[in-house]
Amino acid sequence: MLCKRACIKLRKYLVLIQSHKKYSVIASVLEKANVGELAEIKGWVKSLRIQKDHIFADVNDGSCAQKLQILIPKHLKTDALTYGSSVHIAGKLSKSPRGQLELLAENVTVLGKCVVLDGYPFNPRTAHPPEYVRQYLHLRSRTNYFSAVLRVRNALTKHIHDYFASNNYMHINTPILTSNDCEGAGEVFKVQPENDETVKAMMQEGRNRDTVYFGTKTYLTVSGQLHLEAICRGMGNVYTLGPTFRAENSRSRLHLSEFYMLEAEIAFCDSILKLQDAIEDLLKYLFLQTRNSNESDLFLIDKNNKPPTWLQKEFITLTYDEARNILGKKGLIVTEEGINKEQELALVDYCQVPVFITQWPKDMKSFYMKESPLDDTKVDALDLLAPITGEIVGGSLREDDYDKLKSKLPSEQLNWYLELRKFGNIPTGGFGLGLERIMQVLCNVSNIKDTLPFPRWPHNCDM
Ligand code: 4AD
Ligand code: MG
Repeated sequence: MLCKRACIKLRKYLVLIQSHKKYSVIASVLEKANVGELAEIKGWVKSLRIQKDHIFADVNDGSCAQKLQILIPKHLKTDALTYGSSVHIAGKLSKSPRGQLELLAENVTVLGKCVVLDGYPFNPRTAHPPEYVRQYLHLRSRTNYFSAVLRVRNALTKHIHDYFASNNYMHINTPILTSNDCEGAGEVFKVQPENDETVKAMMQEGRNRDTVYFGTKTYLTVSGQLHLEAICRGMGNVYTLGPTFRAENSRSRLHLSEFYMLEAEIAFCDSILKLQDAIEDLLKYLFLQTRNSNESDLFLIDKNNKPPTWLQKEFITLTYDEARNILGKKGLIVTEEGINKEQELALVDYCQVPVFITQWPKDMKSFYMKESPLDDTKVDALDLLAPITGEIVGGSLREDDYDKLKSKLPSEQLNWYLELRKFGNIPTGGFGLGLERIMQVLCNVSNIKDTLPFPRWPHNCDM
């Protein structure tokens, strides 16, 4: 037999479980619930309007762009119920005089107070500029604008996985720690143990702090491509979506030190046109799906963000030389450094749709890109340029000629990569697409730092 105290504890516990089970997210209340039904929600107060007999509270819980209007009788109002506080509210659903679903509160519990004067940085019904909100990364998800951005990002990620699953690609987790600098640009972050004791215990002759742990210099990955190629040459079409890291000294509105890259590797791909078709199909799918699934969020982020006209048009292809000529005629001279950001955006403006730049000079691109059969000074590489960001995708056919690849291999450490061409080799091509850059184009957001929860860039790695 349970003693009385244990019984009370158990009953409290059961009530607690019951209350956890009962509450609904606001998105499903607005979608599925009917007038007259009981409902319980938990969320944050976005605004309060105090009237003679009752109070109107707008509550949002992050599940959707909409707020649920709560009608609270004055006797249920406590001092703790303020803008920004977290609440648990139970009541009956009803229709407001304007026909809007609202909750007539019967029980209001303030879960967490929010005293604005104690330093809460946001105010009700205020569109704070993104630069201001960015100073409070830990509280950013409380703003309507930024929670909408994160819902779009969540949906976009789901659509990416749906697309690849329905097109028979296998999702592969490529490693974050690696001994190669895939792009060869020297923009890697080095990884080594911090702990002196570990270093001392593992030190051997011929090793130093850089190599003591793994036996080779180790970095945070700049791209999962080379690993993806290894799996592709055994399993067919594959893709990965994961964090990549670049130690570029750029504080631009387009660069992050840590960003997510969607990379795909297509088996038996022997033509750059097939690669272009795959990229165009993927991008149009992602834009259409996300615009459909998150219309209210996109509107909340920017009410002037209309479906891009290029969704109904074919992308344009220009060779590097053609692009250079077009720019030259506009007085924009391309140097050996290649096409710069201003020039990329001028090309998009000229074409009025996203534009593939192909047939790149060999010495401007990475060692793994396939020499063009049309011109041995060029490689079968592509950049896709889009509005707002310029380059959004980089890709190529991969050099599959053993001897040509051997002559360009940057290091013996990549012999395993060369060996992929020795046993059961196949032609492949692939691409990498910056997730945050798609977010910029999709949401019409000019600064990349406002497209992910915790941006990292030079001199900024808070939290
Ligand atoms: O053109 P990138 O460097 O291509 C690669 O890494 C290839 N290995 C991909 C592949 O073929 N599997 O980078 C691909 C894309 C760029 O087009 C851009 O959208 C994004 O990644 N990107 C960045 N995004 C944010 N911050 C940075 N610092 C970025 N660098 C590249
Ligand atoms: Mg690139």
